[in-house]
Amino acid sequence: MASAHPPIAFYDELDSTNAEARRRAEAGEARAGWIAALHQTAGRGRRGRTWETGTGNLAATLLMTTDRPAAEAAQLSFVAALAAADLAEAFVAPEKVSVKWPNDLLIGGRKAAGILVESGPRPDGQLWMAVGIGINLVTGPQSAERPSTTFAEHMAVPPPTPQMALSILAGAFEAWRLLWSTRGFSAIAEGWTRKAHGLGQACSARLPQETVEGVAEGIDADGALRLRLADGQIRRITAGDVFFGDA
Ligand code: BTN
Repeated sequence: MASAHPPIAFYDELDSTNAEARRRAEAGEARAGWIAALHQTAGRGRRGRTWETGTGNLAATLLMTTDRPAAEAAQLSFVAALAAADLAEAFVAPEKVSVKWPNDLLIGGRKAAGILVESGPRPDGQLWMAVGIGINLVTGPQSAERPSTTFAEHMAVPPPTPQMALSILAGAFEAWRLLWSTRGFSAIAEGWTRKAHGLGQACSARLPQETVEGVAEGIDADGALRLRLADGQIRRITAGDVFFGDA
């Protein structure tokens, strides 16, 4: 899926494309636009982690506004995951591509992209949203706990340039975003579930205060992960990291 998308501004280097989006939003920018960088000096990951943007990788943030309440607007992270999956499937065998709750892109079961959504209030009562996506096209961080991969590892030819990858990603994001606006989150949840990694499998959910073990059953109407606990009860996970045996 691809649609006409907001304009793209590409930089050689930024501290963080999400930080730049926030600065623009706080200065009153109301137009939607992509902000991308070939290198980030202070890339941000989820839950306060840092995010490395190695040479040849893509760091991009869509700055946009919405009149949806914050909890609903956060569903855009699933829209972003589906767009990243479309991008991956343009270059890598589709059966290797999956998404992991809440919004990681996996190739061959290892993380190839991460998504960080930030938002804030605007004077007109709307919200600004910064949907940040980091894609490992060429290099990935080395971490035993969070094994990563790259597009290049799964391709016989050189991976796309960051510019080419973003033009595909932005078109795919727009198509999924339009579906979200017209058909609601259920259409996104359906698409996400078709590509989901680990449904029906045991996992541990690492939450801010505890770790919970269970079987991942799917996502609720608001995007929360449904975890079946050993006693049969369902626990809804709304924030955290999920680890399966293999990813
Ligand atoms: C994660 O922890 O998995 C989320 C990583 C998000 C990284 C992207 S790169 C583009 C944008 N700018 C940032 O500083 N972070 C996001």
